Amino acid sequence: MFVDTKDMFKKAYEGGYAIGAFNVNNMEIVQGIMQACNEKRSPVILQISKGAREYANPLYLTRLIEAAMEEFPDIPVAMHLDHGPDFELCKAAIDGGYTSVMIDASHDPYEENIRKTKEVVDYAHAKGVVVEAELGQLIGEQFDEGEGGKMGEGIYTDPKQAVEFVERTGCDSLAVAIGTSHGAYKFTKGEPKLDFERLEEITKALAGYPLVLHGASSVIPEFVEMCNQYGGHLPNAKGVPEEMISRAAKMGVCKVNIDSDIRLAMTGVIRKAFAEKPENFDPRKYLGPAREAVRQMVIHKLEILGNVNHI
Ligand code: G3H
Ligand code: 13P
Ligand code: ZN
Repeated sequence: MFVDTKDMFKKAYEGGYAIGAFNVNNMEIVQGIMQACNEKRSPVILQISKGAREYANPLYLTRLIEAAMEEFPDIPVAMHLDHGPDFELCKAAIDGGYTSVMIDASHDPYEENIRKTKEVVDYAHAKGVVVEAELGQLIGEQFDEGEGGKMGEGIYTDPKQAVEFVERTGCDSLAVAIGTSHGAYKFTKGEPKLDFERLEEITKALAGYPLVLHGASSVIPEFVEMCNQYGGHLPNAKGVPEEMISRAAKMGVCKVNIDSDIRLAMTGVIRKAFAEKPENFDPRKYLGPAREAVRQMVIHKLEILGNVNHI
């Protein structure tokens, strides 16, 4: 069934677990995720980025998700816009039936972030759609961790500002920056570390309010190695250790975003299939195993998030 994220987040918050928000770009990904959620009895957020809409045509993704819901009618599914860059795209998603949107104005100055977020919130709430916003900026492709970069207080979410931001915008959930980053190369300058003290401060300041963790893939070594073994080149890929994700899920983080792990699992398995059966030219023979890898990976993630048997 199609739902917004309110009820999911309330139950997750109270139960000390998090909902997986998985990026979807094609049929095999949607199917792999939904099969896993059906097996583990887990509500889920299927999220669609601007890039996914451009790749697949938004209509196809919506129809795929509708088909999945018809196959698994009792799984609560939120259809979410990931990293909406502006009002126009958020509006298009809301008008297109998404139950949740993210407006990401985190790169803008604070007041502009508030203005843009509030504009989307006003439109979304009038249509019964919930809004995720972001305060603070993730490192990685957004900022360089090294000397001269903006690593430090400036990009991590300020707890006091977070309270004011939520009050002034009315956003329904907030993505926070505590040390994660997008992609397969996290913590390039040292050991993995998240600012749990800051997370605790934010959670205390915004008691009962759902937080979101972007850039939360753990970059599972098995799949990095599989990619590399079969002709890939992903040197020193590194993610967020899974125990840190489990810990955050018990600290007010209700939504955990995972995309890179799906990409790595599919790519590893497809590379292996190509290498082992060079004579094959039937796409089902490599997309099928890729879908199965997504299913298994999502099952593993749901366990890490504590999101099992919650339907
Ligand atoms: O955070 C970004 C997500 O991983 C989506 O990536 O914009 O390449 O679809 P994308
Ligand atoms: P990863 O790149 O760590 O999977 O993060 C995905 C994400 O935050 C999507 O919004
Ligand atoms: Zn993200």
